[in-house]
Amino acid sequence: MNLEKELTLACGAKLQNRIAKSAMSENMSPRHHGPTKALIHAYQRWADGGSGLLLTGNIMIDRKAIGEPGNVVVEDKTDFESLQQWAKVVEGTGLHLWAQINHPGRQAIGAINKEVVAPSAVMTKVEGMSAFFKQPRALTEAEIFNLIERFGNTAAILKEAGFTGVQIHGAHGYLVSQFLSPLVNQRKDQWGGSLENRARFVLEVYRNIRKKVGDDFPVGIKINSADFQRGGFTDEESMKVVQLLGAEGIDLIEVSGGTYEKPAMIGSSQKKSTQEREAYFLDYIKKVRKLVKTPLMLTGGFRTVATMERAIAEGELDVVGMARPFTLYPDLPNRIFDGTLTHLDIPVPKTGIKSLDTSGFVDVMWHEIHIKRLGEGKKPNPKLSAYSIIGHNLAATIKKLLFGLPIFQRTRNEKKRV
Ligand SMILES: Cc1cc2nc3c(=O)[nH]c(=O)nc-3n(C[C@H](O)[C@H](O)[C@H](O)COP(=O)(O)O)c2cc1C
Repeated sequence: MNLEKELTLACGAKLQNRIAKSAMSENMSPRHHGPTKALIHAYQRWADGGSGLLLTGNIMIDRKAIGEPGNVVVEDKTDFESLQQWAKVVEGTGLHLWAQINHPGRQAIGAINKEVVAPSAVMTKVEGMSAFFKQPRALTEAEIFNLIERFGNTAAILKEAGFTGVQIHGAHGYLVSQFLSPLVNQRKDQWGGSLENRARFVLEVYRNIRKKVGDDFPVGIKINSADFQRGGFTDEESMKVVQLLGAEGIDLIEVSGGTYEKPAMIGSSQKKSTQEREAYFLDYIKKVRKLVKTPLMLTGGFRTVATMERAIAEGELDVVGMARPFTLYPDLPNRIFDGTLTHLDIPVPKTGIKSLDTSGFVDVMWHEIHIKRLGEGKKPNPKLSAYSIIGHNLAATIKKLLFGLPIFQRTRNEKKRV
């Protein structure tokens, strides 16, 4: 099977096969934002499933900028021992576990962040959900340099903890992708304007990480094929950035697309024909394949083994990325390799409320619940209704939001001091 073939990366590391579990924000960490036993257990189950590459959900690089209440944060060695335990799930297996590192920029829940920063002061607008977001403040140049340093520091800590690689989250409308987008990046300095200027941030982030982790450690990126917004980051621009990153020697480029405002990454807001077709960004990857030699991973919509095999056989891409299927089929690589799984049946839960269904909110929550079930050692339940998970998730989020408020933080710190 082509999917079982090994892949050697530019840094010399080898992926055992061509199936990757793409990043899914687990949103499971308690108030201190460290990894929990349940989180690590979910990764143990995925490691037992035989995926050549496991990517963690996005890990924040700055405690002052948290995307969702339950994100893991790594900005120093506070949770070093639990990070080591997390990384141990692949120890001795030859499988890879890469940490995806991220800064949310303006796509951060307002209530849990004292202030929100972005390349420019441009607000996130999601129909029916704008109350979740805050007006961002434009970053100063000194802050931009500080964030570039932070990406490198976080990567170095994760390497020391035992993760076998890192991935920059450069997609889905978070900070790196905000710098690339002319809609969000309206700066007049060296970080905005021309594509060369808008791409400066991602290139500097990559260079800083590379400097801190060395040449033989895998560094990858997840990047948008486009933002799918009028006036946003286009596919032509994306191809140029992919070429720039390829020329820098990056090890693996994962292709996705969209932002919170246009959630194309999970098929929402895409044309019906794209949603019904497997692999949403296949047309883009076929074009970019001709431009770079860097290994390419494609994520979004893969559901049949026949399509995955064909894409690898024809050399359109090197690694098949999947996210949602891994919550219902944690051992899907092994089952694909032994021939017992040929088609992945993934229900897309619907509420019937347009703004909830098209925003992808319910879809993401439904899969988040399944990650928690994995962590608790439970079986997946494909019959869980959209409404039952909304109730569960809202209650958990409100609890986390409340305890994330400065007043509770202060009380806890004061108690500690006593
Ligand atoms: C619950 C959930 C959380 C996600 N969190 C992340 C994340 O932290 N980082 C990321 O790059 N993509 C994230 N994604 C997007 C997935 O990685 C992937 O791009 C998308 O689900 C499409 O792939 P699929 O059709 O195989 O699910 C998330 C998706 C879901 C459903």
